[in-house]
Amino acid sequence: MKTDQYSLLKEKLSSKAFSSIFVLVDDNTDKFCLDIFIKKTKIDEFNKITINSGEQNKNIDTCQIIWDKLNAFNADRKSLLINLGGGVLTDMGGFVASTYLRGITFINIPTTLLGMVDAAHGGKTGIDFKLLKNQIGLFSDPTEVILDSDYLSTLTKDEFLNGYAEVFKHSLLTNKKDLNFNSLIKLDFYKDVTFIIEKYSEIKKEIVELDKFESNQRKILNLGHTIGHAIESYSYISSSLNELKHGEAIIVGLITELYISHKLLGFPLKDLQNIKKTFSEYFDVISFSDKDIEQIHDLMIYDKKNEADKLNFVLLEEIGSPVIDQQITKELFIEAFKFYSKSL
Ligand SMILES: NC(=O)c1ccc[n+]([C@@H]2O[C@H](COP(=O)([O-])OP(=O)(O)OC[C@H]3O[C@@H](n4cnc5c(N)ncnc54)[C@H](O)[C@@H]3O)[C@@H](O)[C@H]2O)c1
Repeated sequence: MKTDQYSLLKEKLSSKAFSSIFVLVDDNTDKFCLDIFIKKTKIDEFNKITINSGEQNKNIDTCQIIWDKLNAFNADRKSLLINLGGGVLTDMGGFVASTYLRGITFINIPTTLLGMVDAAHGGKTGIDFKLLKNQIGLFSDPTEVILDSDYLSTLTKDEFLNGYAEVFKHSLLTNKKDLNFNSLIKLDFYKDVTFIIEKYSEIKKEIVELDKFESNQRKILNLGHTIGHAIESYSYISSSLNELKHGEAIIVGLITELYISHKLLGFPLKDLQNIKKTFSEYFDVISFSDKDIEQIHDLMIYDKKNEADKLNFVLLEEIGSPVIDQQITKELFIEAFKFYSKSL
């Protein structure tokens, strides 16, 4: 990582290029990250907008709160919004900034590992709508993303590991031998985190550069997410499952989709078992009833990434060889959950 991550931002702030500066925080990043941000940027004048944390607040009501505050503080088209938070906050802050007065400049400063390796990059902004994840949104890039692992020291262990779901995903997609899954698991997830943030966020950025608007190659980033998003949304409405974090749901999505990859494309069983075993060292196995599985299937049918009534999956032939636009049967979907639940 660059030595002074903040130099460009400090330059912009001192050049008076912006009529006003807004910093968006949630209750946790207000408490844990704002002081670090102020110390590092030496910013002395800004308006703070605080929202409630959590995926359940990634919705239009919270956007209205932010738009209201921007109005109240007389934001104009030359205002800057700095998003200081995890993936929920950068997704939503990016959406709010891009729609306010037809778009104001925004900068992402991710404060979770998941945000640093994934959510803050690539220009997908948005909110959840009626149970469907990221249903409303637009592609819009931040002018800058600052990656600073100093923010991670206050993250809970669970939230820290949550970020590894997306790191694992990137390691399964890359064909770079020194960064693929088998190389990643040799690293120390805590001591090597700065290296991991730099390298695995780069994998995402390279994929996005090939296909910004997801007409083709970028779809591979949905590995684990077709099933994972449905599980995450389902966990918010179900009385039988606890609410799952994004990363926890993606881990189940990865195992089930890799099982399907094994069945349809011959993804090696040895790798599948090794991946499942590795994940079990960091994430608890979640138990799904037959009814849960049925309902997750129903919810998935409405997934936004599907075209012409087809439910499209990204599958792997082997680590580093993704194949897009694959269809599966409901029977195989159910079988994949049985594989997930079976002890090693
Ligand atoms: N746009 C994209 O391309 C993309 C990619 C992947 C995920 N996402 C989205 O990202 C979201 C998940 O992001 P997340 O896992 O970062 O969740 P999050 O933003 O909800 O953050 C997790 C929790 O950690 C707290 N927190 C954040 N930084 C902290 C810090 N430094 N210290 C202490 N607490 C801190 C937050 O307040 C929150 O309670 C999902 O909504 C998902 O859809 C988007």
